[in-house]
Amino acid sequence: MNCSRKLLTGLAASVVLFTAPAMSQEGRGDVVYVPTPQIVVDEMLTMAKIGPTDFLIDLGSGDGRFVITATQKYGARGFGVDLDTYLLRLARKNAQAAGVADRASFVEQNLFETDLSQATVISSYLLPAMNLKLRPKILAMKPGTRIVAHDYHMGDWYPDDQRDIVVPEKKVGTAGVSYVYLWYVPARVAGKWQTQLNVGGKEMPYEIAFDQLFQTLDGTLRGGADSVALRGKLKGDQITFTTLPKGSPGNQRHQFTGKVSDDTITGMVRVGDGAAARETTWSAKLATRGEMRRAKDESEEH
Ligand SMILES: C[S@@+](CC[C@H](N)C(=O)[O-])C[C@H]1O[C@@H](n2cnc3c(N)ncnc32)[C@H](O)[C@@H]1O
Repeated sequence: MNCSRKLLTGLAASVVLFTAPAMSQEGRGDVVYVPTPQIVVDEMLTMAKIGPTDFLIDLGSGDGRFVITATQKYGARGFGVDLDTYLLRLARKNAQAAGVADRASFVEQNLFETDLSQATVISSYLLPAMNLKLRPKILAMKPGTRIVAHDYHMGDWYPDDQRDIVVPEKKVGTAGVSYVYLWYVPARVAGKWQTQLNVGGKEMPYEIAFDQLFQTLDGTLRGGADSVALRGKLKGDQITFTTLPKGSPGNQRHQFTGKVSDDTITGMVRVGDGAAARETTWSAKLATRGEMRRAKDESEEH
């Protein structure tokens, strides 16, 4: 299933989740309590590559299974927030029973008001409208922070990875299947950057203009008489972008890779193709910061 079809499926399913038959514990707040099946929790934490150096925040933590699994099985630390006092008590009891109460805590708090600054990984099983409301706050987090979400998307911020998991016993949302999504918070590179490139043995000044839509990049590389379109992407603070040969400096394809640290990018550039290609170090400095582009988001209209 392609991404946009899945998004629509997610929207249809959201109605089902919202009106799911009452469970013994209904949860409190903006979405009813429906636990994520344990095999889906495991798959989501594996996708996020969670480990001992990570701090997980589960937004709407239910019986605590995300934080407890992350601490018990993967050695991480973390906390969950929920508004349902019964579920919070249950989650604390489950953490005690699992022997992880010192690393897994549960707080009575509205997830929209939660300080996310400690998190390296965020997990959620919330409705699309809630994900969209959280999105600006998530995008402002440290580049590379991973977000894993069960069944519901983030509108026009397409996931970096997604999987379908067959769960025969699942009755809520799309019955029998869980959709899981992973995003990396992208570094902000929209704007104009100054760089130097070696053309015919001489260092020449160039300007890179990035037009950024979440993790997707378009733009131009300009210098002297050269102007060429570029395309690329971000995975957290890791950037890659490429120009076509025609119009590139020296009419040779340039393939850039690098790491973004605030107003500096450092990395390597591969110039040319095939056996004649050469690779050198490369860096760029931010000249003018731009705004990230917003595509029209179909799900915000619902
Ligand atoms: C669909 S359940 C997911 C539970 C758990 N994360 C899981 O996947 O098993 C959503 C949970 O969010 C909680 N919740 C709903 N709105 C909330 C809000 N505004 N702040 C905190 N928790 C909320 C509900 O009480 C419920 O436990």
